[in-house]
Amino acid sequence: MPEGDAGATSGPVGFARVGSKSDFPVNVVSRIVVNGDARALSHCDPTPGGGDPSCPFYATQLHCTHVTLCELTQTGVLAGTVLTCLTKYLPGCAHGSKFDVVTGEVKNGPAISSLVVYETRCLNDEIWVAIRSIASKTR
Ligand code: FES
Repeated sequence: MPEGDAGATSGPVGFARVGSKSDFPVNVVSRIVVNGDARALSHCDPTPGGGDPSCPFYATQLHCTHVTLCELTQTGVLAGTVLTCLTKYLPGCAHGSKFDVVTGEVKNGPAISSLVVYETRCLNDEIWVAIRSIASKTR
């Protein structure tokens, strides 16, 4: 699990380095730690619909908002920037809620609360994630 380096001084203020682009396979939701806080990092396929082609990485809270024991690194299936909480590994977590990992917005229930999202920046080959969240939306 990549560990964010909040003490690094060469990155943007308020961000922690979580690893290199090559540490995170495309179309996989990986577990990261930022300043001691475990989160999910989605590496979206940088084709049309996959987000920012120069930095298609999106950090969110680690767990689904529907059943908060369900870790998105184990349940998340990515298609573009849409993460579907759909697992065959965790009983009780296969409900199919869809979230936009860019905004955290719920695209389809049963989840009703958006994911907390964190700004992510790519600097050369490194990925940096904001320590503080972007305000989340709830519908
Ligand atoms: S736990 Fe994610 S949709 Fe139910």
